[in-house]
Amino acid sequence: MLTDRFGRVHDYLRISVTDRCNLRCLYCMPEEGVEFMESSELLSYDQIVEVVETAAEMGISKLRITGGEPLVRPGLPGLVQRLAAIPGIRDIALTTNGIFLAKQAEALKEAGLTRVNISLDTLDPARFRFIARRGELKRVMEGIEAAAAAGFSPIKLNCVLLKGVNEDEIASFLKLAYEQPLHVRFIEYMPIGHADEGWRSHYLPLSRVLEIAEEQGYAIKRRERVKGNGPSDDWQMEGGVGSFGLIHPVSDHFCASCNRLRLTADGSIKPCLYWMDELNVKPAIGNREAMRALFERAMNVKPVSHEMAAKLAGEAQSHMPTERRM
Ligand code: GTP
Ligand code: 5AD
Ligand code: SF4
Repeated sequence: MLTDRFGRVHDYLRISVTDRCNLRCLYCMPEEGVEFMESSELLSYDQIVEVVETAAEMGISKLRITGGEPLVRPGLPGLVQRLAAIPGIRDIALTTNGIFLAKQAEALKEAGLTRVNISLDTLDPARFRFIARRGELKRVMEGIEAAAAAGFSPIKLNCVLLKGVNEDEIASFLKLAYEQPLHVRFIEYMPIGHADEGWRSHYLPLSRVLEIAEEQGYAIKRRERVKGNGPSDDWQMEGGVGSFGLIHPVSDHFCASCNRLRLTADGSIKPCLYWMDELNVKPAIGNREAMRALFERAMNVKPVSHEMAAKLAGEAQSHMPTERRM
């Protein structure tokens, strides 16, 4: 078992297969993009499979494939198929912006992908261009439909809330979750890398979502967690087909129950989201003992909580009406 110094058991590995993306969401990247890795720096699929074989022996049973945008890397269904065949791996999910999903949903399902989470921050095509700066909302909607047609369930939508940008769509997203079998997750905007400067002015506490749900007349109550491994706090609207979730990495960071490790596209194991040091798997390729030692080291260095988490929680409190704090 991968247990850290604080007794947290790790069974969830998030694997980034590329840092590239076909969109430029304003909360994630500058419009001109960033300096992306050379493709020669990326772990090959063979190497990823080797890392996961060791991770699975040590207790990882759930995988999530992420990016950048994972579907820009060719041949992803082939990787999924190989990962699904590794003993001990029970759940393989994908986080995608949905643009290339319509074409690949069925192949991914056949390869053994179990779940998809799709980013959707707006239901308005023009606003989509403003937030994502590239791509078309229509393609994402087609991706969502294709995922449903391929039999993925639950389908989760990730909606990052930005004050002054899409907060006026909270009611529309709730209506979507009420009417369709979708699980809409509202996510607090986190300051990461390039998005730092605009963070304070666009941060919106998620207590707004519950206020709007009540204003709209929904009878809401907490529900059991929707299948998944992440930190979402899930709610249902009485009579609704779908449901909604709140992910508050800023105001209520979930470090105490952290169950995850990350593997970056160029092969670093990150014990924590804000971890900077190198624990690169490349020198351990072909050497199972060395690979195991890296995962053990990740457990030994993982902090109880990153200082960034406490700093942000403090800042977020000042944005929050205290009586509504969740
Ligand atoms: P499920 O297995 O479906 O619950 O997935 P998930 O919520 O873990 O994955 P997803 O990739 O859809 O992530 C959704 C959001 O959760 C991200 O936008 C982040 O805001 C947040 N998140 C996920 N993992 C972490 C983490 O380790 N730390 C922090 N701070 N936020 C995270
Ligand atoms: N704050 C919150 N969520 C973010 N995501 C990307 N950048 C940020 C940020 N700064 C979301 C994406 C995707 C998920 C994996 O992370 O919208 O749905
Ligand atoms: Fe970043 Fe995801 Fe948007 Fe791409 S789709 S720019 S990775 S948030």
